[in-house]
Amino acid sequence: MPAQTVDEDWTIVLSAFATVIRRMSGQVLKLETSRYAEAHMDSADAERDRLAKVWRQRAQQYGERCVLNLAHGPEGYRAEDARQKSLVYPWLRQALNGKEQTVLDFGCGAGRFTGDLFALVNRGAAVGFDVSEDLLTIARGSVDRATFIGDYSVLSSDQYAEYFDVIVVLTVIGGFSDALCVETASLLATRLKPEGLLFLAENTAEDIRGNGFWTLRPVSWYQELFREVDLNVVSKYWDLGAEVSIMTGRKKAIGSSTTR
Ligand SMILES: C[S@@+](CC[C@H](N)C(=O)[O-])C[C@H]1O[C@@H](n2cnc3c(N)ncnc32)[C@H](O)[C@@H]1O
Repeated sequence: MPAQTVDEDWTIVLSAFATVIRRMSGQVLKLETSRYAEAHMDSADAERDRLAKVWRQRAQQYGERCVLNLAHGPEGYRAEDARQKSLVYPWLRQALNGKEQTVLDFGCGAGRFTGDLFALVNRGAAVGFDVSEDLLTIARGSVDRATFIGDYSVLSSDQYAEYFDVIVVLTVIGGFSDALCVETASLLATRLKPEGLLFLAENTAEDIRGNGFWTLRPVSWYQELFREVDLNVVSKYWDLGAEVSIMTGRKKAIGSSTTR
């Protein structure tokens, strides 16, 4: 684990504070968290810039396989890609109600899921968003039925407010600081339609741990993070010994309480 910075210390203190407040009142937490996300806007932009550089370098060095654990090697990419799809798609199909038409693949990388997502939502509209222009270039070259964007201001514009029936996030948030997780969860909650589906697969562990590049967090942490969604674990799989939890939930309908 890398040494913690003062900023990270504050992040821990603030998220502990948010947890206590939430137990007292869901409404108070909502207010507190939106102020917290606002206060971290600038640092979120800086972190996105940093992540864009990290993923540019990774994409230029390893191409499309950079989205997997590099230990799979060039020869293991196809098999691991197919294995992950076979582990994820049945749960996604089960979570869909058949009426969905719009899907966001947040952190889509080279778009290895985006084309299939388009088919799963009745060929309505699929949008892939990623911070890496190099990976988006690969995605645009291999998936022709989706719109790929890398501009955060476009994703957060009115155009996509409550636009998506489904938002899919597959091993993306593990690369974020707590502050960027909070900011991202706030954004995604506003992009999802009421009663829309959030489908998440992230590395999880009983206690928070990480290596500076990737962080494993408890399932309860994700449930707390996406409190507008009733998130539940539907399955788990292992990637080179690391646990990945598949979590799904639907955003609460307008007017329902944010308390769990
Ligand atoms: C482990 S890869 C997974 C990619 C894709 N979901 C998949 O499974 O093939 C993580 C992805 O998150 C993207 N990413 C990193 N920071 C991001 C951010 N702030 N916003 C959106 N995407 C981001 C990276 O560029 C990378 O494509």
